[in-house]
Amino acid sequence: MLVLGIETSCDETAAAVVADGFVLRSNVIASQVALHRRFGGVVPELASRKHIERLLPVIDEALETAGLNIAQIEGLAVTRGPGLVGALTVGVAAAKAIAVARELPFVGVNHIEGHIYAAFLSEPDVAFPVLALIVSGAHADLIVMRDHGDYEILGRSRDDAAGEAFDKVARAMGLGYPGGPEIDRLGKEGNPRGVPLPLPMAGESWEFSFSGVKTAALRALRGHEGDTAFLRDLAASLQRVIVEVLVRKTLGAAAVVRPKTMVVAGGVAANSRLRREMEQACAAAKLRLVIPPPILCTDNGGMIAAAGWRRLTAGERSPLNLAAESDLSLE
Ligand code: KG4
Ligand code: ZN
Repeated sequence: MLVLGIETSCDETAAAVVADGFVLRSNVIASQVALHRRFGGVVPELASRKHIERLLPVIDEALETAGLNIAQIEGLAVTRGPGLVGALTVGVAAAKAIAVARELPFVGVNHIEGHIYAAFLSEPDVAFPVLALIVSGAHADLIVMRDHGDYEILGRSRDDAAGEAFDKVARAMGLGYPGGPEIDRLGKEGNPRGVPLPLPMAGESWEFSFSGVKTAALRALRGHEGDTAFLRDLAASLQRVIVEVLVRKTLGAAAVVRPKTMVVAGGVAANSRLRREMEQACAAAKLRLVIPPPILCTDNGGMIAAAGWRRLTAGERSPLNLAAESDLSLE
């Protein structure tokens, strides 16, 4: 089954074609980063307008790259939430319109579920139970997936998401938006113990909290703006503490859940330090780890098509009055 996946939950206009749930035939991502950069973050209204402008050309390009025309597509999957409601609505409306015009089955997909399914695109034989850490600009979720569609959230962030902490500190450091990739790049040249920062443990629970370490980093920055050596050390130190907590808590949960597969995905899973430390920790604990390649960790249509294919082949259909839901829950 050839599924067209559409993703417009935030600032990437994305479409992809996936064959039989696992084979990525195309993956087109039109980033709006340049548009939002001068505002230092995503402006929801501008994001919606840009999605309206870009979505149909992006879908055309996804079909063309896959060597297909729309008549060959057999199902549609679209991100229904969580995300920016106006941005989501553009994708949902487009999917519904195509579904009606082409008489195709369509299904709305949870964005976080999509991030998990990026792992199935990388390695089709992911075995259950899965313990997933989904870290993005809006989330730091620790999730047990016992089967397709069966989720339990063990912990999440009480305040800032991991990516949000990176983005906010990066912005104060003058690194622009989005800050995560810049912190990653700059931190490679810095001393990870150069700037003392608290370990954001939020107690022994599986919940995360990144607002305290963000504030500590902002305070440490004062008086050092423009000092390149300090900025490098701060980037490296912030990554060290955030990654250490993500790895510790995830491995702690794994000791209880005893998963067959560990999955780390979402935009922050593109971070080189997190990838390296998670690989080392899982190897030491003899846990199988799947971290999709960076391009499938950040928002994309392929992960939505993969998750949608699973639901469509199980017979699930969304009604034509499906609405976007900004705080859609995974459970
Ligand atoms: O999943 P995603 O593309 O969008 C959301 O659903 O939020 O994640 C975007 C987040 C941003 O906060 C961005 O700064 C972060 O992922 N990010 C990174 C890296 N690449 C993207 N954070 C740290 N290191 C990276 N290499
Ligand atoms: Zn995302």
